[in-house]
Amino acid sequence: MSQRTIVTLPGDGIGSQVLKQAIRVIEAAGFKANYVEGDIGWEFWKKEGNPLPERTIELLKQHKIALFGAITSKPKDEAAEELDPALQGKGYIYSSPIVGLRQHFNLDICVRPCKSYKGNPLNFIRRGKGNTIEEPEVDVVIFRQNTEGLYGGVEWTDPPDKVYEALMTHPKFVKNFGDIPKNELSVSTRIFSKKATERILRAAFVYAREYKYKTVTVCEKPNVIRETSGMMFKMAGEIQKSDFPDIELWNTNIDAQMMWLTKNPENYGVIVAGNMFGDIVSDGFAGLIGGLGFACSAQFSEDEIAVFEPTHGSAPKYAGYNVSIVNPIAMIESSCMMIDYIGEYKIAAKIRDAITKLILEGKIRTYDMMKMTGQQDVIEKGAASTEQMADAIIENIVSQND
Ligand code: NAI
Ligand code: MG
Repeated sequence: MSQRTIVTLPGDGIGSQVLKQAIRVIEAAGFKANYVEGDIGWEFWKKEGNPLPERTIELLKQHKIALFGAITSKPKDEAAEELDPALQGKGYIYSSPIVGLRQHFNLDICVRPCKSYKGNPLNFIRRGKGNTIEEPEVDVVIFRQNTEGLYGGVEWTDPPDKVYEALMTHPKFVKNFGDIPKNELSVSTRIFSKKATERILRAAFVYAREYKYKTVTVCEKPNVIRETSGMMFKMAGEIQKSDFPDIELWNTNIDAQMMWLTKNPENYGVIVAGNMFGDIVSDGFAGLIGGLGFACSAQFSEDEIAVFEPTHGSAPKYAGYNVSIVNPIAMIESSCMMIDYIGEYKIAAKIRDAITKLILEGKIRTYDMMKMTGQQDVIEKGAASTEQMADAIIENIVSQND
């Protein structure tokens, strides 16, 4: 059998640093693949006027699986200034390549697991009965619809006449906004399609069953956002009843969920939500398990394109450091999601066990785990570098084999 090929998309800043270390770790655990690097990010915007060149899209089309680091995005005007002078004034407009990838391949299913490691000094703690300190074990997986809803991009300031006329057919628009001049209106839409809603809901239920979570919680706001949240809420009930009676279906409102986040995070299993609420609730849970150094994710499309990436960005302020200081665990965990997706569960488990042991021992910690401010001197102060962290994980992997 020919060996699979993974497209690596290092991107900008710390993206390439964490990706490099993640590949060392997965190879040490016995994961075998060819790697082909795809061009993406700021460098290609500046040189070519396109941060997501067509050749990169072709690579992903061909090989279907990508490990992505992070990219730098800047506001349009700043982007225009940094463009190669030879390309300036020729109509190039910057747009984020990760959003571009999402749209091009319709990566509509985003999965963000948030699982606390025992002994992580960044774990959330709370006060229990009798002033005791409790550290709840968080093990939540968020399924976020990734292409529609409030981030669908269908929006206007001073909407065109036809849009305005259509809005004026709605009695509530007439009542609440009808006497506001059109040019003083900004409108962002929240569109949900049945197909994408069904896909994210089913993905959540299938995952819950496969990984033995007892509950799927729809986290929306159907009592107020009756049409879109209401549709997801209703469809979840139907799907659960017909195909997943073994999984309990819970419903929470996004605002209440954020309040309960610190009260009972251990009670939740799989959570499913639309684009924006999924973004919010996944950042909330990520904060409980150590934040950006630990938050991993995967994105999937209907035609089986899969992109695995940490949720953090390129952290440009650390990019130029001689010794990289950032935590590679979010990238390594994202790589484990890829390995699970490929079906090599044992290899992924081996890596996770090595991380679990390392964190429990508590001897090797990156600056974020030591609650330091990220500066070049954190290494002198005892923090592990990105590479040392990977080394320590590899050491634990190797010792499992002994
Ligand atoms: P960021 O995630 O890059 O960094 C925020 C802060 O989080 C950092 O300054 C650092 O203190 C901490 N941090 C991030 N990753 C860490 C890690 N692995 N270990 C330890 N600490 C870590 O977000 P920011 O500063 O808002 O954005 C920087 C650039 O990244 C921007 O250009 C932004 O557009 C881009 N970005 C890209 C994303 C992507 O590629 N998917 C996602 C988010 C932001
Ligand atoms: Mg976010």
